[in-house]
Amino acid sequence: MSAVRYRPATLADAELAADMMTAAYPAMPQDPVIMRLRWESPRKGFAHGRFIAEGDGAPIGYLGWIHGPWDKLPDRHCEVEVWLEQRHLDRGLLVAMFAWIGEQAIADGARLLMSYCAEDEPEMLDSLAALGYRRERIERCWELDLRKHGARLVADAKRACDRQSGEGIELTTLARWSDPNGLRKLLELSNLTAQDVPHTLPIIDETYDDFARRMEAPDRPHDRIWIALHDNVPVSLSYLKFPPVRGTVWTSYTCTHPGFRGRGLARAVKLQGLAQAVELGVPVVCTDNDSENAPMLHINEQLGYVARPGFVEHHKRVTK
Ligand SMILES: CC(C)(COP(=O)(O)OP(=O)(O)OC[C@H]1O[C@@H](n2cnc3c(N)ncnc32)[C@H](O)[C@@H]1OP(=O)(O)O)[C@@H](O)C(=O)NCCC(=O)NCCS
Repeated sequence: MSAVRYRPATLADAELAADMMTAAYPAMPQDPVIMRLRWESPRKGFAHGRFIAEGDGAPIGYLGWIHGPWDKLPDRHCEVEVWLEQRHLDRGLLVAMFAWIGEQAIADGARLLMSYCAEDEPEMLDSLAALGYRRERIERCWELDLRKHGARLVADAKRACDRQSGEGIELTTLARWSDPNGLRKLLELSNLTAQDVPHTLPIIDETYDDFARRMEAPDRPHDRIWIALHDNVPVSLSYLKFPPVRGTVWTSYTCTHPGFRGRGLARAVKLQGLAQAVELGVPVVCTDNDSENAPMLHINEQLGYVARPGFVEHHKRVTK
């Protein structure tokens, strides 16, 4: 292949990028519709760069950097990503691509580069190590066979619903909840609990507009967003994302308000979504959580999830 060239990606490249990401890591197909929506509407204050890598005049991969507003990120961390189609997989090329995208991020003011790759991507792991990235955290991934566990999950979901109802908690969906301030209350729960997800880098609160837009995306119909209500206040939330074109049905987020933890609520709301997926005929679902998130690891094991390769969060400090 001749020297690789990089060109800025435009919105029209979103589907191409989703295709190349899928070809780079087929175990996790990327949905083109969702990719385009994400590209169209970045989070408020977030900056990004997106590029298509070309070899012999044809696209071979996607590269990007993205970071939050620097005034909210004293560490100035910036995520960089490289997706090289597997048929072009080559350690030297990966090192060159990671080095190039890292330079772009540094030119935008980054002081710490962060990048994920999967545990079963040895070439990616080697390339990041060769460039001096350290392994910082592990995101555990899991999958659950609904054909095998469906009947049990449906029965457990019903039992959990009855138990919570006896304790004054209603398990319902966002579609059935008719509170005009519902989304604002959910955002409050989401932002509050996000800080309790084990993490190294700062987590920036989501704005209402960004949250509302995300919750309107076509992969999360409101009759599949499960919530637990106590006195009309959402105290727990769990939902699966259903990619409209391709990809695995995957948990988006599960959380419980700190004042209501340890009462089986997260398991109960997660079970409602799983039972619904069983009834929809979904064969398998996935989920992920930080390797230090003890309660979530425990819940996923109990629900019958089995491990699949996770993701390694890498960091590289680029200034003193
Ligand atoms: C993780 C989280 C959702 C759990 O919510 P919850 O409503 O308290 O969960 P549940 O009560 O349904 O279940 C918690 C289980 O973990 C167990 N648990 C709690 N701490 C634990 C620990 N340190 N080690 C092992 N198990 C633990 C509990 O005993 C309970 O299991 P049990 O019912 O079999 O006894 C909640 O802590 C949270 O919102 N955290 C922040 C958001 C987050 O991390 N979400 C997951 C992102 S992937």
